[in-house]
Amino acid sequence: MPHDITFSPLCTELAAKAREIAEKHVRPSAAKYDRAQEYNWEAAKAVAAAGLFRTFIPKEYGGHGAGLLALARVTEELARADSGFGVAYAVNALGSFPILVGGTEEQKQRWLPLIARGEKMIAFCLSEKFAGSDAGGLSVTAREDGDDYVICGEKKWTTNGGVADIYSVFAVTDATSKSRRISAIVVEKGTPGFSVRKVEDKMGIRCVPVVETHFDHVRVPKSNLIGGRPGMGFKHAMMTLDLARPGVAAQAVGAAQGALDLAVVYSNRRQQFGVPISNHQMVQKMLADMAMKTEAARWLVYQAAVTAESGDPKTTRIAAMAKCFATDVAVEVATDAVQVFGGYGFMEDYPIAKFYRDAKILQIYEGTNQIQRIVIARNLIKESLELEHLQAYIPREVQESYEEKGAAVAAPPAQV
Ligand code: CAA
Repeated sequence: MPHDITFSPLCTELAAKAREIAEKHVRPSAAKYDRAQEYNWEAAKAVAAAGLFRTFIPKEYGGHGAGLLALARVTEELARADSGFGVAYAVNALGSFPILVGGTEEQKQRWLPLIARGEKMIAFCLSEKFAGSDAGGLSVTAREDGDDYVICGEKKWTTNGGVADIYSVFAVTDATSKSRRISAIVVEKGTPGFSVRKVEDKMGIRCVPVVETHFDHVRVPKSNLIGGRPGMGFKHAMMTLDLARPGVAAQAVGAAQGALDLAVVYSNRRQQFGVPISNHQMVQKMLADMAMKTEAARWLVYQAAVTAESGDPKTTRIAAMAKCFATDVAVEVATDAVQVFGGYGFMEDYPIAKFYRDAKILQIYEGTNQIQRIVIARNLIKESLELEHLQAYIPREVQESYEEKGAAVAAPPAQV
């Protein structure tokens, strides 16, 4: 059953503040930071001053406790002006979720208030050069040594790397175990042996750094092991992604809405054949399709946020659906927005080209859309056990053959 989507007064207030910051501190300088590949500290400071980093953090750790729907609304508003700044903001939630879902009380008290106040940024180090979609195939190791862990190896695609002060790092603590191989450990910037090396030169979201993080015998106390129990890392990573994917989906909705807004404004002014091009039915069709898709994505994202908030076991599927659908929509809408702008759309003189460049990564990070579809299908098949009563409505011979051959025929695939 769908969950009620209710915007609390606090959620509405935070979203309004985000829109104000987006128009004042994000949109006007988006092109500048994009060209320079520089982080927009001015906007980040405004976000901190407005208390927006507190949005998703529970009250007991210095946050607003406004939940995932508010996080989605804030992210959407920021991304509407600049998708890159949207992720620069949302990645703090991605980095914090391992602590929130798996951390001890002491760890939550130690790190979350700093993030809530915007005094420290956090990043998420899961992917490696040879472990992207296969998140279980990590090679970075964390070896126990007395009261410490010693971390060795390299992480790839760390969003906010360098800007962040705290890193949730996933590493192999027991190479012999299949299900308890990985643990999540917090590493703070400045720890000897930790460095940020390759700052990537990207096609889009250029205002947020994506880097390689290197760990050369980085020694951290065991008290930094998230949850205090080794082997929980893969579960914590998956639970984190379930909570974070509605956020990346919200970024996509913001990006789609931002591109649509510009396309509508342009089409009302651009004259061809003696009338604004918005009078031409082919343009109207494009605008209508863009608006329908964006609105459908928006409500799926809100539904995913409230589902994840409720702890519903269907969260994994709905979060993956929202991420996949909304990010596909963002790419389609940004592509059509460029088309509406015609030749101007192809030029870097105007922001619409940046919307197009920024959109593509949405289909790739926080789990490619191919992985999302696998996650959706696997969970749909699992959940179909709830529909046993419908067996009476499928062809009898199919049911009989299934019973003869056994459940293995219908079991979901074990491997990706
Ligand atoms: N919640 C809790 N536990 C979960 C879970 C979930 N959503 N999904 C899986 N698990 C558990 C399973 O129950 C299982 O537990 P047991 O061993 O106890 O039985 C265990 O995890 C292994 O599960 P699977 O067999 O399903 O694992 P898999 O190896 O087949 O992989 C996958 C599943 C869905 C493909 C996963 O690897 C995945 O999500 N890959 C994509 C990774 C990803 O999204 N990376 C993005 C990095 S972040 C990024 O891009 C950030 C950025 O910079 C912005």
